[in-house]
Amino acid sequence: MSALAPTELSGSAEKLIRGRRATRAFRPDAVPEDTIRAIFSLAGAAPSNSNAQPWQVEVASGAARLRLADALRAAHAAGRTSIDVPYSEDIYTEVHQERRAAFGAELYGALGIGPDDHAARAAYDARSLGFYDAPHAAFLFVTGDGGPRLAADVGAYLQTLLLAMTAYGVASCPQGLLSFYADTIRAELGVTGGKLLVGVSFGYADEAAPVNRVTTPRAALETVTTFHQ
Ligand SMILES: Cc1cc2nc3c(=O)[nH]c(=O)nc-3n(C[C@H](O)[C@H](O)[C@H](O)COP(=O)(O)O)c2cc1C
Repeated sequence: MSALAPTELSGSAEKLIRGRRATRAFRPDAVPEDTIRAIFSLAGAAPSNSNAQPWQVEVASGAARLRLADALRAAHAAGRTSIDVPYSEDIYTEVHQERRAAFGAELYGALGIGPDDHAARAAYDARSLGFYDAPHAAFLFVTGDGGPRLAADVGAYLQTLLLAMTAYGVASCPQGLLSFYADTIRAELGVTGGKLLVGVSFGYADEAAPVNRVTTPRAALETVTTFHQ
């Protein structure tokens, strides 16, 4: 370990971890290619069970990203969804649903969309398939059987990636919604195997956008953590 004192160490770790937030409005400027390579190289340091590293990562920029955004728009318009990792509202408990509702109220409130304006919410979600205008998008595929154990490893990769981006001043938004278009993404990027878990839009944040000022609280420590002696 380095010689950092606990307060210095916790200070810099806290800055990095709390400095990451989901960004939903981006500037058009591309992230330099060497920065992108450094970020994804760092993300590869993520832990995984027995170091199996059961992930395949596809990064779309430039013309590939434009083609993909067009294909996603067309798939959405045609109602052509396809998921690799099953999803149902039933996965959530009542407490989860309360937190999700509070988050939705915060997000759509910042966008000036009322709580009952389902059409405007749906339109915003559809627009998010354009990566919130971010110049880059990454797609995290679980390789192997794609089951929950391997998906957990890819979850560890996801957070490592998001923190690596933060460390390089690059903003990001993980987007589970993109995983509802798995076949479209696979076809556009020429991916043959794996299960699509999540997409990540990334680039430089548009700091002036009100949506980027949404704050998200967390459950109290004792609510989610028990310390046994
Ligand atoms: C697996 C995963 C999927 C997510 N899917 C979406 C999504 O489809 N659209 C979106 O705008 N945000 C999405 N998010 C971002 C969450 O809404 C966000 O992380 C959460 O509200 C906490 O806010 P914070 O990231 O700013 O701390 C996702 C986050 C994760 C980890």
